[in-house]
Amino acid sequence: MKYNLRSTLFRLLLLIALVSGSSWVLKAKDKKPLVIPLESKNNALALQVNANGDLAMIYFGKKLADVNEYAAVPGAYKQTSDYTGELNAAYSSSGSRNLVEPAITVTHADGDNSLALKYVNHTLTDVKAGVKLLKVQLKDPAYPFEVTLYYQVFTNEDVIEQWSEIRHQEKGNVVLHKFASANLHLKGKEFWLKQYHGDWAKEMQPEEAKLTHGIKTLDSKLGTRANLFQPSVFMISMDKPATEDEGSVLYGALEYSGNFRVDLEVDYQDNLRIIAGINNYASPYTLKANEVFTTPAFLYTFSDQGKGAASRKLQNWARDYKLLDGKGNRLTLLNNWEATYFDFNESKLAELLKDTKRLGVDLFLLDDGWFANKYPRNGDTQGLGDWAENKQKLPNGISSLVKEAKNNEVKFGIWIEPEMVSPKSELYEKHPDWVVKEDKREEYYFRNQLVLDLSNAKVQDFVYGVVDGLFTKNPDLAYIKWDCNAVIYNAHSATLKNQSHFYIEYMRGLYKVLERIRKKYPTVPMMLCSGGGGRVDYAALQYFTEYWPSDNTDPVERIFIQWEYSYFYPAISSSNHVTDWGKQPIKFRTDVAMMGKLGFDIVVSKLGEHELQFCKDAISTYNKLKPVIYQGDQYRLANPKEGNVAAMLYVDKEKAKGVLFNYLVSSRYDEGSKLPIKLKGLDPSKKYKFKEVNVYPGTSSSIDEGAVYSGDFLMKIGFNPQLSLSRTSVVLQIEEAR
Ligand code: DGJ
Repeated sequence: MKYNLRSTLFRLLLLIALVSGSSWVLKAKDKKPLVIPLESKNNALALQVNANGDLAMIYFGKKLADVNEYAAVPGAYKQTSDYTGELNAAYSSSGSRNLVEPAITVTHADGDNSLALKYVNHTLTDVKAGVKLLKVQLKDPAYPFEVTLYYQVFTNEDVIEQWSEIRHQEKGNVVLHKFASANLHLKGKEFWLKQYHGDWAKEMQPEEAKLTHGIKTLDSKLGTRANLFQPSVFMISMDKPATEDEGSVLYGALEYSGNFRVDLEVDYQDNLRIIAGINNYASPYTLKANEVFTTPAFLYTFSDQGKGAASRKLQNWARDYKLLDGKGNRLTLLNNWEATYFDFNESKLAELLKDTKRLGVDLFLLDDGWFANKYPRNGDTQGLGDWAENKQKLPNGISSLVKEAKNNEVKFGIWIEPEMVSPKSELYEKHPDWVVKEDKREEYYFRNQLVLDLSNAKVQDFVYGVVDGLFTKNPDLAYIKWDCNAVIYNAHSATLKNQSHFYIEYMRGLYKVLERIRKKYPTVPMMLCSGGGGRVDYAALQYFTEYWPSDNTDPVERIFIQWEYSYFYPAISSSNHVTDWGKQPIKFRTDVAMMGKLGFDIVVSKLGEHELQFCKDAISTYNKLKPVIYQGDQYRLANPKEGNVAAMLYVDKEKAKGVLFNYLVSSRYDEGSKLPIKLKGLDPSKKYKFKEVNVYPGTSSSIDEGAVYSGDFLMKIGFNPQLSLSRTSVVLQIEEAR
């Protein structure tokens, strides 16, 4: 088929212009390349259609004052020649001119492996106030194969969500070997990658290094609990490593809970190509004619004022648009996991419900161990999948506990792990074909369990039924902790026709279940837990109100872990529990947990008089401070990785109220806050006063509550929380002095 770009374009765009009245029309007679600028409050991404119809990304960064000048950007660079003319493609294909890492690779119905994508048209529409959507249509001139690129821009937050839709009308199936969500092209002198790695109890360990030429890949092949070793979140500093308040930095994350892949390629021209999407590992996808393959969104934001500003943009965006009930309230709770593990019965729980009330939290959360009869769940070796109350432990069922909670004027929540099955379970015995396993191979377990095959619609119904059944029987159930402890070994479905689709269909199945749950139960709070923080991402957080960062609740460790999560996720979504991990006193543990969504997992009856009094007071203080912790702007003031002090500040949008958390993270002789801590985000012309909260009973604060300081002083000189070896954790309430 001969492709006449100009006449096709002209006809198509004329049609669009006539139908939609769109002003985004390429004038066919115009010889200059078409530039498509996509601007947000501070930033811009500019695409350009070159003379031969290729769509290129010519700019990403700070918005220019004159929108017409994006066209001049490419001319300002004198880098080595681009032999392909496609190095900066907005969505690189493979098998034709491209010589570098592709965003998409296909085998056509006729066996041909080449793909070239040419611009057809684009539209820019307002989705709602502050959100616009750019849609760019690309088509292969040689095959009836199309890709639509979507760029959803959140103007005030400077956030872009980018995804693509792939379809064809070929005579037969097309195999997609790679199918990225986004393909960015950045220019800079140097590129510094901040990435994360981890394991159980060691989530979000940061590493920062300069990217060298070639490809660096961040990925997961774990199927479920996909972030166990590595999450998809990352930062790219341009020119030099950005600090908290200085430098140009891009944050990226894939909105996906399964296998992901992010390729970061510094090409021979010294530019950075970022290609992010579902991991194509073991997943060639057979696409039927007219079937649409929609990729998950790749999310990114950019700041030229350092990592702090970028994270505040992302946190605002999350609360406004993504996180379930991001602007709402959260429930404080008492969890029994570490208090009892699997060893509980009705009378023990009755006591814990009384403790919940005594402590003053909103809800009691019953953890693992309440179910299964043939193979009672008295340890982690059996029973998963058999979601009936264990008759020995709970002869009167969950409903009596929900009632008992009501009698104690607290709410009741429950733990489930509905995607999983124990080999020793009635569920496995009844439905061996529902289990992810390779019949020809020996079963291999992660935490003594296997994963249910969510690609199977019957399994989806079952998993949905676990949640629906609990709510139907117990309409007052107020909270779900959804756990997911195993990764996928022997990825194989007994029912799926094409095993290469398994990883993708698993995730589609999971999201279908979550969608159904949220349709029927739109607001009930749910915690996203995965043996700690093995699954934290913005696809899942559309269905969950909070996540569990780590089973490691040692407060010193948590300062570091929560610190790193805070770059990407707002405090309201971070479930922080006070437990018996670590050697720190209860005050230190509570202060650290208060930096997000507060909960407890301790034996309340073992607390001393002062300890209990402290916790009760802290909870009532927290209830007063939580609006600013949940909705305020977060400023990282002193980085525990760079010194002995950690300080984190939350300031409300009016700059009238704040909370400042300070910790000493070293126990060496004579350590303390030797220097004042410079505050940020205040109004220089306002006056502020400080009050120490969470003061331990029997001790007094050394902070002068009468002193008044200007915002100017506090941001230039700072405030000293007076941390010392005898004051290792200090929480300060800040208020405008009127
Ligand atoms: C792993 C979770 O991270 C813990 O909080 C707890 O719920 C256990 N699973 C229960 O088995």
